[in-house]
Amino acid sequence: MDHRRSRTSATRRLFEEERSAEIVADSFADTPDPRLQHVMTSLTQHLHDFVKDVGLTVEEWEAAIRYLTATGQKCSDTRQEFILLSDVLGVSMLVETINNRSDGTATEATVEGPFHVVDSRPRELGDTIAEPGSGEPCLVTGRVLDRTGTPVPGAVVDVWQADADGYYDVQHETRPEYDLRGLFTTDGNGTFWFRTIMPRYYPIPDDGPVGELLEKTARHPNRPAHIHFEVSAPGFRTLTTHVFVADSPYIDDDTVFGVKASLVREFTQVDDPRRAAAAGLDNPFRTVDFEVVLGA
Ligand code: BEZ
Ligand code: FE
Repeated sequence: MDHRRSRTSATRRLFEEERSAEIVADSFADTPDPRLQHVMTSLTQHLHDFVKDVGLTVEEWEAAIRYLTATGQKCSDTRQEFILLSDVLGVSMLVETINNRSDGTATEATVEGPFHVVDSRPRELGDTIAEPGSGEPCLVTGRVLDRTGTPVPGAVVDVWQADADGYYDVQHETRPEYDLRGLFTTDGNGTFWFRTIMPRYYPIPDDGPVGELLEKTARHPNRPAHIHFEVSAPGFRTLTTHVFVADSPYIDDDTVFGVKASLVREFTQVDDPRRAAAAGLDNPFRTVDFEVVLGA
């Protein structure tokens, strides 16, 4: 394509402050992919509006470039600082939510987070995913259903969570492999159950540019206690979500805005040696039931 053709006086792209977005958006006019053209045009409009709205100074523009450069430099095979930035700006949750809209009958989605980095080990229903004695015992039960309430047998329920100190296994040098992770398959009634320990609230990785942003804006880095779920079954849309512990610190102020009211559950305290023995847990223990409804 020859881009050197001369433009008529009406279409010359000479910069003017008032028409800046329009002039730049016009440079995308020949984009073959209409979706890319739409996204770039809208992005240009919003970026220019933003710069004009705040009256961005040269120093601030330079600081933003340094910040984004540092964010990229913090990324590695095991660290994605850009996703973390998207998380604390609420963009990850917005993208997740607008792409998983349902009529209110399917379980709501939330962010996947950076700790689903190792495959969970397949386990039998009722197995424990925790080291014995490593925290407050907890029994998790639930069912996977379709939107008509029919159980989904053979659904794969992948779970992962932080420990009693708020760390994932991959954040420890010495933690046993596959600690606090499990891959369960629902039985003929769509039911699943497993033993674990109560997860604790924890700070997201805050030793990089995202942590710096949180500190400068007087925000805390914490997420309320939760258990991650990724539930899949043939013919259904895979659901990535969490169940949140109702009485956890930060339940109303998740730093990545991941909490939706429909995902918060009481983890009931049970003090009953017979029930504990039947579940294979020490007494007392906590328990939660989480029904998952998959959308198509
Ligand atoms: C998580 O829940 O594992 C998580 C989500 C977003 C950012 C950091 C951690
Ligand atoms: Fe998490």
